[in-house]
Amino acid sequence: MALKIEYTLREATEDDKKTLTIIELDAVALFKTIPELADLGESHASPDQLSTWLSNGRIYIAEDNGKAVGFVAAVTMDTTLYIAEISTIREYQGKGVGLTLIAAVLDWARELSAATGRKPRVSLTTYREITWNAPYYRKRGFREVEAETLGPKHVEKMNHDQGERNLVRPGYTRCCMLWEEQ
Ligand SMILES: CC(C)(COP(=O)(O)OP(=O)(O)OC[C@H]1O[C@@H](n2cnc3c(N)ncnc32)[C@H](O)[C@@H]1OP(=O)(O)O)[C@@H](O)C(=O)NCCC(=O)NCCS
Repeated sequence: MALKIEYTLREATEDDKKTLTIIELDAVALFKTIPELADLGESHASPDQLSTWLSNGRIYIAEDNGKAVGFVAAVTMDTTLYIAEISTIREYQGKGVGLTLIAAVLDWARELSAATGRKPRVSLTTYREITWNAPYYRKRGFREVEAETLGPKHVEKMNHDQGERNLVRPGYTRCCMLWEEQ
């Protein structure tokens, strides 16, 4: 039987911004293995962006015996809870940290749903073609949807990623994905 590793989750604060950047930079180095996207292996959220996620949403940090190994940032956007970033340090990738972080966001969506009476929903934007992006989320119950069906802020985000951020490259396209409680 595979060893089950359990992680502790805690909510990040402004004091964690340096830790979050270190985690993200280590995680995104995975993109350096794809020549067309190699530059993304150096990109990370700015301190201002982290502050916005902290004040408008939540960031959960996963720890293994006190060592920060991953984080997820989520904010409410249109009528869903949107995963703005998820990162696991490379040493811990494939060991269930991502699953733990996603489960925390789904639980938060359930909490919000109890308050609003709407079905729990979680969205994200990602690459279709990369194993650890869309196929990874598909296995976790997310399905691809048109940004328009999620609302104007999702459309704006897709346009921003394609335009200002230049994330669409030859052979690599972006999509919106949605998880809804069944
Ligand atoms: C996307 C990302 C956060 C996933 O995190 P992760 O911690 O590696 O994810 P998990 O370990 O939960 O799952 C990865 C795989 O390991 C498997 N796994 C889960 N627990 C495991 C364990 N204890 N031991 C070994 N493997 C395990 C999972 O089943 C999964 O495999 P599958 O996709 O074939 O089903 C990580 O790849 C990452 O940081 N990527 C770079 C940044 C990025 O692209 N972010 C997403 C932007 S949209």
